[in-house]
Amino acid sequence: MRKILVTSALPYANGSIHLGHLVEYIQTDIWVRFQKMQGHTVHYVCADDTHGTPIMLRAQKEGITPEALIDAVHKEHSADFKEFLVEFDNYYSTNAPENKELSQTIYKKLKANGKIATKTIEQFYDPVKNMFLPDRFIKGECPKCHAKDQYGDNCEVCGATYNPTELINAYSAVSGAAPIRKETEHYFFKLSECEDFLKTWTRSGTLQGEAANKMGEWFENGLNDWDISRDAPYFGFEIPDAPGKYFYVWLDAPIGYMASFKRLVEDTNRKVDAGELPESRRMSFDEYWKQDSTTELYHFIGKDILYFHALFWPATLEYSGYRKPTQIFAHGFLTVNGEKMSKSRGTFITARSYLDHIKNPEYLRYYYAAKLNSTMEDIDLNLEDFVARVNSDLVGKYINIASRTAGFISKYFDGKILDTDLNRINETAKATMVTLGSIEEIAEYYEARDYGRALREIMRVTDYVNEYVNEMAPWVLAKDSNQHQIGSKLHAVCSDALKAFRVLTIYLTPVLPEVSQKVAVLFCEPRNYLWNDLQFAPEKISAYNHLITRIDPKAIEAMTEANKENLAPTPAVIKTASPAAAPVLAASDAAEGSYISIDDFTKVDLRIAKIVNAEHVEGAEKLLKLTLDIGDATTRQVFAGIKSAYDPETLKGRLTVMVANLAPRKMKFGMSEGMVLAASDDNGGPFILSPDVGAQLGMRVK
Ligand code: MSP
Ligand code: ZN
Repeated sequence: MRKILVTSALPYANGSIHLGHLVEYIQTDIWVRFQKMQGHTVHYVCADDTHGTPIMLRAQKEGITPEALIDAVHKEHSADFKEFLVEFDNYYSTNAPENKELSQTIYKKLKANGKIATKTIEQFYDPVKNMFLPDRFIKGECPKCHAKDQYGDNCEVCGATYNPTELINAYSAVSGAAPIRKETEHYFFKLSECEDFLKTWTRSGTLQGEAANKMGEWFENGLNDWDISRDAPYFGFEIPDAPGKYFYVWLDAPIGYMASFKRLVEDTNRKVDAGELPESRRMSFDEYWKQDSTTELYHFIGKDILYFHALFWPATLEYSGYRKPTQIFAHGFLTVNGEKMSKSRGTFITARSYLDHIKNPEYLRYYYAAKLNSTMEDIDLNLEDFVARVNSDLVGKYINIASRTAGFISKYFDGKILDTDLNRINETAKATMVTLGSIEEIAEYYEARDYGRALREIMRVTDYVNEYVNEMAPWVLAKDSNQHQIGSKLHAVCSDALKAFRVLTIYLTPVLPEVSQKVAVLFCEPRNYLWNDLQFAPEKISAYNHLITRIDPKAIEAMTEANKENLAPTPAVIKTASPAAAPVLAASDAAEGSYISIDDFTKVDLRIAKIVNAEHVEGAEKLLKLTLDIGDATTRQVFAGIKSAYDPETLKGRLTVMVANLAPRKMKFGMSEGMVLAASDDNGGPFILSPDVGAQLGMRVK
């Protein structure tokens, strides 16, 4: 029996879980469930990654403490994972006493081993906010292509990378002030001295081929010492004997894997002491983390954080006296409909929004599994293909086997499954041999994270079984009352089909844990299936209830539509809500400051517009359809969320202010070609803005 500790990367506590994240958590969860089904001892731990400047600033912006923010996010993330059937043995937080202690201990060991150095560096400092600014909180003009408002480390327009010092007219994204340069002492981990160790480690089979190649490139460029400190104010752990200095979030984040496991050990052992768990469940932290541990440790991560896991992390462990990971499993990034997830296309979909619209998490688990392999290639969620695959494979093929045969077993044979030797009946030989012959192959594919191949093999078997059911046509046999006797051909055919269905279900259990539980109940075996259950034959079934329904493509449309509306409120109301009313958990890109540059502002083409027509929109609760004239020979159609406040008749002929260069957006009711400005808050509104007397339609607002 193997002893395995598995982790997924710790999601940042400053945003919601989205479908991109779920690639990783679903991938890991499938692997963990598969290993548990083999009877191995497996612990799967994770946590929220809670420290750093973005979280600190977001909390400030929302007028709450960072602790309150991370608590709320922890609840949200935990609920999301639970509903997607991602089953951690512990889901913790990096802002925890175990993590603080481990981080400080590890740091002290690194220091004792001569791996810590200090250096005075010059950094940008916000003189208004009195804080040092991380690169992503400095913006300015790109030194190469002169695009405005680019981040401090790279230009989104021309792709150049540079130092923030090279930006032209740099400004702080927190306060808008021009940053000054200021000296400060920083602590460094001497990664440059770890090269020999890292070269050996990365070539010892710990990485996938592509990842090992990537490492080769990094080694060629030479390893720089790693800056592990940040100055106050910072939300994180203080560095021992260094007042005002904090560990950079990436120092304590991976240690969060250890801390989460440590907490699991403590909780489990407490239950053992209290007699709630058997002695055999007692755990030991050291068994899994001591230098010469014989247990296995796997980290599932996205390819974007390979550097941290394949360089910093093993070096940190090596020079503080702990074991190193057995393997790092890096996966690619999610694209939706072939493109990066996009807020304007409505494909930046949160876990919650998926649950609200599509509801069933197992559709997504199935689809991701079908697409996943062991490489770092990106994976695409094509929404049309998603519907087609789930409906045709999962419902049309797999579920179909049971839905076409279970009823006859209940109706004519009192739920009893015939004890056939599966190979006895000629006609079934094809189906059953294929079914049983694939066990090891399928297990190997799961083990190697080649879920796509596992599912292809499972679907191949499913096709055979369906062919068999089609040939035998139990619904035709059932018309003959002689077939209603125990031991009849009808009985044998339906029994065989159901046995095969049970086998397929066991194969699919890591992917579809909830369906699997329902199927276990159907076969009167109410337990979580283990791989070993493939050895047994079921004896009877209880009443068959439908297991999964088809996806309605309209739910997908509604989901993308809702994500568009959420993020760019075309209802055309500019909210002036008070901070107290700001939703704590609203999706936010980055906790940036609330300043924009004058250039940002002048990008907005504001015009005096005349409302030439206003009408109700059939089926829309909040929207009015407005036709606007800004004097440029064409009229604009805009959907505005002002129905609650205005009778369309009273709007006709009025002047107002519109955003004339907003990219047209397709909404449920038609195109919206701009935005009308209105004010509102908790006390009332929306109130449409009007220009002063004398303004003419078409005038620019400057
Ligand atoms: N907090 C760090 C990880 C610290 S681990 C000690 C982090 N957090 S994250 O929230 O940005 O990402 C969490 C995981 O989700 C990462 O492994 C990341 O690669 C993965 N993904 C985030 N967006 C993703 C996609 N669009 N597609 C696939 N995986 C993605 O990084
Ligand atoms: Zn540029």
